[in-house]
Amino acid sequence: MLKVKIAGTGAFLPERCLTNDDLTQLVETSDEWIRTRTGIRKRHLLSEGQSPAEMGVAAARAALAAAGIDHPQVDLLIAATNVSEQPIPGTAPHIASGLELPGEPAFFDIKAGCAGFVYGLALASGCLATGMFQSALVVGVEAPSRFLDWQDRRTCVLFGDGAGAALVVPSDGEAGVLGVSLHGDATNLRLLRIEAGGVGLPASEATVRERLHFLKMDGKGLFRAAVPMMERATREALAQAGLTPKDIDWLIPHQANLRIIRPLAARLGVPEERVVVNIDRVANTSTASIPIALDELVRTGKLKEGQIVALTAFGAGVAYGAVILRW
Ligand code: ACO
Repeated sequence: MLKVKIAGTGAFLPERCLTNDDLTQLVETSDEWIRTRTGIRKRHLLSEGQSPAEMGVAAARAALAAAGIDHPQVDLLIAATNVSEQPIPGTAPHIASGLELPGEPAFFDIKAGCAGFVYGLALASGCLATGMFQSALVVGVEAPSRFLDWQDRRTCVLFGDGAGAALVVPSDGEAGVLGVSLHGDATNLRLLRIEAGGVGLPASEATVRERLHFLKMDGKGLFRAAVPMMERATREALAQAGLTPKDIDWLIPHQANLRIIRPLAARLGVPEERVVVNIDRVANTSTASIPIALDELVRTGKLKEGQIVALTAFGAGVAYGAVILRW
């Protein structure tokens, strides 16, 4: 098996910004409730007329530029997203169209809740390790603002829009994907769901009237599941890499809630200053959460060559997983 690494990262956040105070104009909430229960202070949202795939294109372009490769020959593009640009075709072809990549690369979407980017990165690594593809773009892109119920304070305060991307290529040095753990607990499909709009319950006047096209969530159920799931995946991926939690230089957990991130770090014994947190500024950007945080770590110069990074996420399904990288 060939070793593979991330050669470049990129991210994109829409310009429009909504603070917690702005949200008090829409639903009965407060800055204090949102900050203390979640850690979120503001979130970025697409404007009307802006396309979610455009965010993916911008993040992917930034990842390609960061890789510093002239005319990179990307032959696989994976878009991790939960609600795609349109029902058919998926988001990946929209991103490929915007990027105008040469050579007609393979593309497809994956839907693995907020763990989509971790799943996509693992999948891309596997494909490159076997030699099936030579270079892959993995793009996490999500526009929750388009499927949130802006009358439901239990969900609309939690999410933000954004995209993040990574270019994955073969590695001839020490840097690379060292361990992967992917799992899914399908015993409670109702924890996070959009009930209508699929072929099980197609859109109708009744589904619109009953607000069944919006995201619904059992927050407490997800809250309870999140920490043990991400801890298990991280420990398994570390073990595969021949490492332990003590070896983690940077922990990048899915940014769903600061009250999930902190206990996870505590259970793994990772000190606070080694945990990447940007939920205060971007909220939960779903599949974009991990690559946006990783890109921030790279661009601020904090992530040094040779360091060990643990990426871990959970989301609808419940799908969860972790990837361990040496940078
Ligand atoms: N503003 C003010 N009050 C609110 C708000 C709000 N925005 N939302 C809920 N409340 C109220 C509730 O109605 C409830 O009032 P009640 O006791 O009178 O009924 C009270 O606050 C407490 O609500 P809880 O649900 O008990 O609050 P909790 O501390 O559990 O926090 C939260 C809720 C933030 C949703 C938490 O459960 C959570 O983060 N869960 C995980 C969510 C998650 O990770 N989702 C995404 C995962 S997958 C993905 O990322 C796509």
